[in-house]
Amino acid sequence: MSSTQSHKKTRIGIIGAGPAGLMLSHLLHLSGIDNVILENRSRDYCENRIRAGILEYEVAELMRQTGVGARMDREGSRHDGTNFLVNGELHHIDFQELVGKHVMLYSQHEVVRDLIAARLEAGGEIIFETSDVAVHDYDNGHSPYITYTANGVASRLDCDVIAGCDGFHGICRPAFPAGMITEYDRVYPFGWLGILAEAPPSKDELIYANHEHGFALLSMRSPTISRLYLQCAPDEPLENWPDDRIWDELALRLGHDGFSLNTGKIFQKSVTAMRSYVAEPMQTGRLFLAGDAAHIVPPTGAKGLNSAIADVAILHRALDTYINKNDDTALNNYTATCLRRIWQIERFSWWMTSMMHKFDNHVPFDARMQTAELNYLLTSSAGQMTLAENYVGLPLH
Ligand code: FAD
Ligand code: DHB
Repeated sequence: MSSTQSHKKTRIGIIGAGPAGLMLSHLLHLSGIDNVILENRSRDYCENRIRAGILEYEVAELMRQTGVGARMDREGSRHDGTNFLVNGELHHIDFQELVGKHVMLYSQHEVVRDLIAARLEAGGEIIFETSDVAVHDYDNGHSPYITYTANGVASRLDCDVIAGCDGFHGICRPAFPAGMITEYDRVYPFGWLGILAEAPPSKDELIYANHEHGFALLSMRSPTISRLYLQCAPDEPLENWPDDRIWDELALRLGHDGFSLNTGKIFQKSVTAMRSYVAEPMQTGRLFLAGDAAHIVPPTGAKGLNSAIADVAILHRALDTYINKNDDTALNNYTATCLRRIWQIERFSWWMTSMMHKFDNHVPFDARMQTAELNYLLTSSAGQMTLAENYVGLPLH
């Protein structure tokens, strides 16, 4: 990069305008803490990136309490329970009855749109389409800074703290000193083929299906749009899945008495690989990781977006005490506070994934264990309580 032509200063430099970076920026703003977000994609790209759909109870509450929940309440839908389809039998699990809470179905890209709108309306600064983002001097007692290019201009952002909210493939985690991070990793031998279709949802609540052909999930986005997933190979070429094959396979895996699958035009198709991953620690000096930058889960438990929001709720509280009360105790404890919750989320997502998918490498004993696990869940109120407690979300702290 040529010499710096633009020089700015803020308290918190945030890298990434996904759910983690945007919610952190919003919360910091409400605490009177100046911040700037640098994002390497365009606003349009961020606002249309199709990902998760379920918001935990407390994540939805946080949106309401901080003034960004109105559209979610208007256009999203409240789900008081969910369904498990096993051996062709449908079992309903009622979260509201079991733990007195529900979840909201509201797309991740709608959350992103609401947060971007709120930040811009409040005069917040999000610099889209940056390149060459790099972090400096976060580890040596000096003031950290970020260099980047925006509109062809070499730029520098000085700050007190850098928040690495730049997702799994970002630059912040690789910037940790060599050997500092321990990685915990599990790659699953399958992926999910996900579609969006112009078809009214075939059921009012989600269906998680365990079938001998593999897992399937019925979800939705609106009264006219279905979101559906099929277990497939992790590197499955989309050409293997013409629309007719997708509908046939969904009808088979989701089929049960009294059910009929609504079909329609498929307008989005993609394959997602499945992985569990945690990087420890989540901080070095004045650089802090949050969300997918530090950990990912397979999507079965609907936890990726929610745990990104949980991290930044914790980081925001710690930064608030640091900046507004000059006390860095919570900031120093950030990794430990987050990891307690994250490992619970990792366990739940791994458990849901292990219980619901077909594993080609299972020996007969493993298959029996999976059946026993499912039977326990479907016949024990304690088992269902465990699922409900985790699915609606653990406390955000
Ligand atoms: P991200 O949303 O990844 O945001 C990171 C941001 O940083 C991005 O905007 C990125 O462009 C930006 N960035 C990256 N590098 C740089 C850089 N060098 N400089 C500047 N900006 C940078 N979870 C579920 O619970 N259910 C699902 O169904 C589900 N489906 C998914 C499907 C896909 C294809 C993927 C990838 C993830 C899915 N997830 C799902 C996970 C969930 O979407 C993530 O956990 C969530 O997006 C995490 O939010 P985040 O803000 O931490 O990261
Ligand atoms: C959706 C995705 C999930 O991974 C999940 O567990 C539930 C719902 C969805 O995209 O709607």
